[in-house]
Amino acid sequence: MRIGIIGGQSTPSFIKNKESLEIETKYGNIYIQISRLQEHEIFFVQRHGEKSNIPPHKINYRGNIEALAACHVECIFSLGTVGSMKKSIAPGDIVIPHDFIDFTKHRYYTFYDDSRVHIDMTNPFCPFLRNKLIESSEKISSIKMHKNGVYLVTEGPRLETPAEIRYFSEFADIVGMTLIPEITLAREKEMCYASLCIVCNMAAGLQQNMLTANEISVMYKKLEKNVSKLLQITIESIPDIERNCECKNLLSGAVL
Ligand code: HPA
Repeated sequence: MRIGIIGGQSTPSFIKNKESLEIETKYGNIYIQISRLQEHEIFFVQRHGEKSNIPPHKINYRGNIEALAACHVECIFSLGTVGSMKKSIAPGDIVIPHDFIDFTKHRYYTFYDDSRVHIDMTNPFCPFLRNKLIESSEKISSIKMHKNGVYLVTEGPRLETPAEIRYFSEFADIVGMTLIPEITLAREKEMCYASLCIVCNMAAGLQQNMLTANEISVMYKKLEKNVSKLLQITIESIPDIERNCECKNLLSGAVL
């Protein structure tokens, strides 16, 4: 199967002997690293651009997904860092979200600007990929995994205020900046999409000290090895057969 990985920080360590490809899309050129894992072809995209320097609100989300679609990728695992809004979710934990709330403001949300296409979001994350991640996490004893969670997406690049977090935490569990519109665009291409959220901090107002971007990246580096192992075991557990979930037919009920 052709499997995409969108990473927010470093390249997972199992991506070896890679070939780099520059894909031209109408949204700009995208760099993809191609490698193999067992029978699967793996397509890795650095979400923040080749130099990893594009802020969340400026990411070329459409370019990234269009390039993966051009490579006939069927499934995407998305890696991202988040803050926790719940006491039961601690820095160092991993959350596999099952739903989201969108508080972004100025992004390009769709590939369909000239026609009416309304993609269903009843099950925004692919249940098959989520299950594979959850099952695989049970094989790594040092991972504390949360099998569900609501991800609230903010516009960024600033972090949130304590009042915002009090408000958001009524309805959601984790907060981050990059899920939207990545997930929607992947669904518009009928791809399966699941997100592996790495909890790097308690959200604003829920920890004693001020939040720093450095703190987030230091925590990510600590967890990087486990995240890469989890992803590798998960991908190795995916059979190389035709997909059997609703994701592959999303457009059939969406076009007016
Ligand atoms: N807020 C938003 N995005 C984040 C956070 C946070 O606390 N931590 C990591 N990404």
